Amino acid sequence: MPFSEVLRNATWGDHESAESEGYLKALMAGRLSREAYGELIAQHYFAYVALDGVSRSLADHPIAGRFVFPGLYREEALVRDLSTVYGAAWRDRIEPSPATRTLVARIEQVADWPGGYIAHHYTRYLGDLSGGQFIRMELQKIYGFERGGGVDFYFFDEIGSLPRFKEEYRRRLDALPLDEPGLQRVIRETKLAYQLNSEVLADLDHLARAA
Ligand code: HEM
Repeated sequence: MPFSEVLRNATWGDHESAESEGYLKALMAGRLSREAYGELIAQHYFAYVALDGVSRSLADHPIAGRFVFPGLYREEALVRDLSTVYGAAWRDRIEPSPATRTLVARIEQVADWPGGYIAHHYTRYLGDLSGGQFIRMELQKIYGFERGGGVDFYFFDEIGSLPRFKEEYRRRLDALPLDEPGLQRVIRETKLAYQLNSEVLADLDHLARAA
């Protein structure tokens, strides 16, 4: 079985629990204010500043570099989204939650191991290119966001057709030059990445309870 499938199968249970978090449910049900939606963008901002930064530093790496696509970088889009929701003073309105600090620390900690970088890269970007597209359409319906700010995070204009890009991404996963224990370590780190991302969502649950 190709590694992309092995990875997906081994972590789909972790996906299901990440997907069913209270905050995301309330968000998708249209129960949260724009400000409460902004809290998610804010946490994304800190995580992607870290992930994009690590990607830049690994661009020339023989293994990790095959997963570096400047068209995936999210910082600029997130700044537009934050400016739209919170206004020009957005930077004073946001701070990383404890769970986001833990996620960022882990992304930076595994940056010297290509498998670890790829695990976090896959968990975030392939999710944004998959279920993220459905989330964007719902958010546009709920808040009336147009292109240019609000949900720009979910627009990937520079990478062409998303299904084709995901196919190529999976081909690169399948061609990872790692031995079996190395691949198993990638799976373990991906499970951890799901858990850390779920904890970021759990930290936002109070907003769902207050809604
Ligand atoms: C409302 C929440 C969510 C929904 C509705 C959702 C839905 C989906 C769907 C339908 C797919 C399959 C798309 C395809 O096969 O092309 C997918 C894939 C994926 N999602 Fe999510 N998702 C959600 C949340 C998340 C979260 C919170 C994460 C991680 C932090 C995540 C990470 C992923 C990843 C990595 C994939 C790719 C799996 C693969 O094909 O290898 N998703 N999602």
